[in-house]
Amino acid sequence: MSNEVLEAMRTCRAMRHLLPDPVDDALVTQVVEAGTWAPSPGNSQGRDVIVVRDAATKSAIATAIESALAPAVAAMERPDRTHRLMLDGTAHLLSTLADCPVLMLVCGRPVYPYVAPRESFVWSSIYPAAQNMVVAARSLGLGTVFTTFHGVAEPAIREVLEIPDDVLIGCLIPMGWPLRQFGPVNRVPVDQVIHEDRWRGDLRSVPPAM
Ligand SMILES: Cc1cc2nc3c(=O)[nH]c(=O)nc-3n(C[C@H](O)[C@H](O)[C@H](O)COP(=O)(O)O)c2cc1C
Repeated sequence: MSNEVLEAMRTCRAMRHLLPDPVDDALVTQVVEAGTWAPSPGNSQGRDVIVVRDAATKSAIATAIESALAPAVAAMERPDRTHRLMLDGTAHLLSTLADCPVLMLVCGRPVYPYVAPRESFVWSSIYPAAQNMVVAARSLGLGTVFTTFHGVAEPAIREVLEIPDDVLIGCLIPMGWPLRQFGPVNRVPVDQVIHEDRWRGDLRSVPPAM
């Protein structure tokens, strides 16, 4: 076992600047397959991935999202570098969403527990799969970013993609070749996260500024 997986996770920054260049179908399939390897409650695997590559379909989705979200993002305060980078990146991503070569929507149906399916288990199936996909993409040199963009235009997106009513959308992940560098993620140090043998109060300081 090599530490390449750890390195991919350590440097898996949200990539909001993506080239419009196409991504080979085989690579897209590899990324989605990595998602299928994720665990789920009782191995119920109640998740599906919609891969959107058709230009007109991407454009319809992007237009619905951008018109709903871009004005709000433009108006959001940018009190420090962290917020400026994130919100400027988000604004850029919104304005280029239609040009991203691949949009992936990770969805799920309530199928677990089998006798009385609960919505919470849908999210526990979707998120490990989505994170596997994000890390797999990084390991292949592809940039991605987790988003909840679909939430601002869900009726329009459901209609365009013909998503059945009982299917929930967990996240929308744009993917493409990165325009910016991958690099170490900015996170709270591990010693502020680990509680040794008991809960320790005041362990966590605020996340460090970027
Ligand atoms: C569940 C989830 C939802 C997110 N939604 C968005 C989003 O809607 N738009 C966006 O630009 N980034 C989104 N992100 C990305 C986070 O903003 C990003 O991971 C975080 O700021 C850390 O940045 P880094 O991954 O580059 O280190 C989301 C991340 C997660 C895990």
